[in-house]
Amino acid sequence: MIIEGGHPLFGEVHISGAKNAALPVLAAALLTAGNSRITNLPKLRDVTTLFELLRLLGSRIEQDSRGSVFIETSKVCPCRVPYELVKTMRASALVLGPLVARFGRAEVALPGGCAIGARPIDLHLKGLQKLGVDIELDEGYVKAECQKMHGGHIVLDLPTVTGTENLMMAAALIDEDTIIENAAREPEVVNLADALKKMGSSVEGAGTGSIFIHGTRSPRPFDHRIIPDRIEAGTYMAATAIAGGKVKIKGCPQEFFTPVTEKLQDAGVTVRCLSDDIIEVEREQGMDIMPVDINTAPYPGFPTDMQAQFMALLSIARGVSLITENVFENRFMHVLELQRMGADIKLDGHTAIIKGVESLGGAPVMATDLRASACLILAGLAAKGKTTISRIYHLDRGYEGIEEKFGRLGAIIRREKEK
Ligand code: UD1
Repeated sequence: MIIEGGHPLFGEVHISGAKNAALPVLAAALLTAGNSRITNLPKLRDVTTLFELLRLLGSRIEQDSRGSVFIETSKVCPCRVPYELVKTMRASALVLGPLVARFGRAEVALPGGCAIGARPIDLHLKGLQKLGVDIELDEGYVKAECQKMHGGHIVLDLPTVTGTENLMMAAALIDEDTIIENAAREPEVVNLADALKKMGSSVEGAGTGSIFIHGTRSPRPFDHRIIPDRIEAGTYMAATAIAGGKVKIKGCPQEFFTPVTEKLQDAGVTVRCLSDDIIEVEREQGMDIMPVDINTAPYPGFPTDMQAQFMALLSIARGVSLITENVFENRFMHVLELQRMGADIKLDGHTAIIKGVESLGGAPVMATDLRASACLILAGLAAKGKTTISRIYHLDRGYEGIEEKFGRLGAIIRREKEK
């Protein structure tokens, strides 16, 4: 991706469906035997990777051009999910709960390490054991089996997002009560709960730390709309702040990203809520960004998925900002790349100390993960001169049409094939 920096952004951008909501809802279709319809799916690499996996398990998938997908799951069988799929997308582990719930067995490769840390799935597995599933780890695969699952009381050590979702899906076919405590409270968890309710399960408390589920033995296929992507919305908000200009961000409820709005306002950026799902961000050329401190935390705290984008923004603030990453152990890979662009950032354990510089300079840089790629695009938009970002395939996992969307806002950005 090649970006000529220094062009402010003007216009409006429409937010796509959320990747992190789409993946669990697609996996939930496996719980039923029939034809489910899922709408507002984003066109993303992670979604097509999950299609590949669902087809491998025997689903038939048909798409229309408007982002709706029909998934027919009557011929699904619980065959082995290979490492090749799990390593390209860790969220593949989301099929574990649905498969074991429907068929009494599942075999899924264990995800390994990834760029942002170890990211184990031990809490998913412990939770499944509480519901009566036998778990065996064998040559890099999780083998899950059970005669009959039963309800249970699960207290998660950490409010893991995909872990909560996996366990909700497993409990959704158990005709007994299950309680998940210290559950993740993300809007994507609530979106999944809504799909499970349409399927016939009773789910209460999604969006709080305690989720109560009474499953159904006769699940119905469902018709479900994916919620908008709050991280995509936050990324365009931060982009407008760093590049300057005035942009309306449309289609994402504001309550999904309150901490992002508040931190932008603390940084001196104007944010106007024009309606429930239209927000306008403005920074006049030459107006200073003020330093702010950020602590990432599970929802409703400041999202770890917005940390890298804010690091780019704060690298040109007037003063020193601290960003502490509390969710992942190694999510500072973008720091070295920002330093190549002239940022003054030091790391002290889980905290980055960011001393704002006058301006960033374009440079060749390398994307290391999805949100780090977004951070480098933001830095490129504000930098003097040309920034060339390689390994851009990470972006296609999570941002629909990113260069088209930025291009329409006036950014000078284009994609070239890597040599
Ligand atoms: C999800 C999101 C990801 C986001 C993250 C945190 C999806 C598809 N991905 O990832 O974009 O960055 O939430 O908001 O929704 N942990 C364990 N054991 C487990 C599970 C997690 O120790 O069994 C740890 C992880 O290593 C991490 C923390 O818990 O330190 C949170 O991870 P988790 O919420 O599970 O992230 P994901 O669900 O993988």
